[in-house]
Amino acid sequence: MAKVSQLLKTVDQLRAVSDSPQLDCEILLCHVLEVDRAQLRTWPDATVEPEQLQRFEALLQARLQGTPIAYLTGSQGFWSLDLNVSPDTLIPRPETELVVEIALALALALPRRSRVLDLGTGTGAIALALASERQDWQLTAIDSQSGAVALAKQNCQRQGLSNVQIFQSDWFSAIAADRADFDLIVSNPPYIERDDPHLKQGDVRFEPSSALVSGVDGLDDLKKIVRQSPDYLAVGGWLLVEHGCEQGNALRDLFVSAGFSEVATRRDYNNLDRVTLGQWRR
Ligand SMILES: C[S@@+](CC[C@H](N)C(=O)[O-])C[C@H]1O[C@@H](n2cnc3c(N)ncnc32)[C@H](O)[C@@H]1O
Repeated sequence: MAKVSQLLKTVDQLRAVSDSPQLDCEILLCHVLEVDRAQLRTWPDATVEPEQLQRFEALLQARLQGTPIAYLTGSQGFWSLDLNVSPDTLIPRPETELVVEIALALALALPRRSRVLDLGTGTGAIALALASERQDWQLTAIDSQSGAVALAKQNCQRQGLSNVQIFQSDWFSAIAADRADFDLIVSNPPYIERDDPHLKQGDVRFEPSSALVSGVDGLDDLKKIVRQSPDYLAVGGWLLVEHGCEQGNALRDLFVSAGFSEVATRRDYNNLDRVTLGQWRR
């Protein structure tokens, strides 16, 4: 029977397709053996059942074809949550945690029982992270894709959160006019240029274009969100959007043209423009 230590050597095959072959190999093995990475390292001589070996080999082949690790294991960590993922939407990225951090820091400037809207919620990442940190906030999360809505609902149930409402909507279209006074709107919408060559590389090849691409300059959806948000914000409310690292100037211009005050762009941990925010005061 195969041993854990032998399977860990498949890392060599993964070097050709992954920047983190060791981690990929360990994650796939942990997934199949239902152990954590510490256990894996502690027992390199543990034997692997034939059925587990077969599953590992199938996952390894899929990874060698480029399938993202998170789609193979069906989950991804985001903030303090472990979220189910699927090819219906984006795999949550670590840089999006900056949206959560800034939103939580804004809490000081918001009512205690704030009403918060997450546009393009995908797995529910941003909305569920905020709901888990602020149980006194009421979250509304929407997505245009029925698969993403179902996934976000599943994740919400998995986290046992009762302060989140999730439904299908093309941006604001299904938001009732009488609920149009959010204290905070957050969004990580699609923002990649249609012809961006990165779309043909790495994990994004497996993610749906509905979650990635937004017109020729990547700004189609951001423009809609920034221009329409004032109709859905309470006076004093904030809009917070994630965007591409070269879109900071364009976003600040859009916010100012739409009438926002206190417009600023924040950088991520790689020192790249990542999130723009502004306050609606009119
Ligand atoms: C970049 S992904 C972000 C997902 C999630 N918020 C996150 O940060 O991981 C963008 C999401 O916007 C959704 N989306 C795209 N167009 C939309 C539209 N017109 N209305 C609502 N959601 C939309 C996509 O389905 C996708 O789930």
